[in-house]
Amino acid sequence: MIQKPNTLTTSFEEDTYKGLTAHPKYLLSKYIYDKKGDKLFQDIMQMPEYYLTNCEFNIIKKHTDEIVTIFSEEEQGFDLIELGAGDGKKTKILLQHLVEQKQNFTYIPIDISENAINGLVNTLSKEFPELKVEGEKGEYFEVLEQLKTYKSRKKVILILGSNIGNLLHPKAIDFLKKLNQSLNKQDLLFIGFDQKKHPQTILDAYNDATGITEAFNKNHLLRINKELDGDFDLHKFLHWEVYDPESGTAKSYLVAKETLEVHIKKLNLQIKFSQWETIHTEISQKYDDTIITWLANEAGLTIETSFADEKNYYKNYIFKKK
Ligand code: AVJ
Repeated sequence: MIQKPNTLTTSFEEDTYKGLTAHPKYLLSKYIYDKKGDKLFQDIMQMPEYYLTNCEFNIIKKHTDEIVTIFSEEEQGFDLIELGAGDGKKTKILLQHLVEQKQNFTYIPIDISENAINGLVNTLSKEFPELKVEGEKGEYFEVLEQLKTYKSRKKVILILGSNIGNLLHPKAIDFLKKLNQSLNKQDLLFIGFDQKKHPQTILDAYNDATGITEAFNKNHLLRINKELDGDFDLHKFLHWEVYDPESGTAKSYLVAKETLEVHIKKLNLQIKFSQWETIHTEISQKYDDTIITWLANEAGLTIETSFADEKNYYKNYIFKKK
């Protein structure tokens, strides 16, 4: 029945094929972010339930001076490399401060979304004409290779928005280890981690009543329909969120409400869903100090310092090579 086509050309095609023929089914969350997915994520960041963005914004706003001082300690200047830059709203606070102080630095935003990067570089060159900015489109792991070419002076690597939360611990450790390999003694990692909190607060952030997160999650299927000539009926899937307060893992699913058959022409694929069968679509990991200390240690990093909001909903940590 399932006939693997010999022409899976893009990684989207390949990963979609793999995920939908696996048991249980899954899709990789990085593929949500096409133009529509980017827009939906912008909308998510505006929702009152999605506390993460505001918390991190407030942390950076409140501690700008201290953060910027730590970043610019070195004489020879530095490269400020942001992985998953998005719209750069939070980073702009730091950039403005650094530009005002006439610090010697280049801002290198990197994102998987070409839209996001082009938009960001455009607005930045208007808002901060003096800023040196070199935008790059790419994936985290591919970018790690490129990082080695920025080895000549101090590097500060930013990963905001709890983006690292899309990785389960073993993968997060792997990722941090690889980052570590591209670090020199004076380099810094500045990373945002969403914290464990009342489980209901977390569920609400990923299951808003207006249905924006539902649309975001279902954009996966829409993208498959559009780009791979699929015929997913979005109404036949339920957006479902679970949060395990012990592990701190929030998981998103799409659940088939009835028995279904879906065709994806470009993959030459016909998929069957039984009623209540799931597609796992995203992980949003939540953390505490014990977990972060363990992750850092496993990856050969030490925590220099950390900044939290007053509710301890969210924390930004600065790491160095151990
Ligand atoms: C961008 C991965 C941090 O997991 O909180 C928001 C994505 N998913 N609502 C997150 C997301 C559903 C977000 N990250």
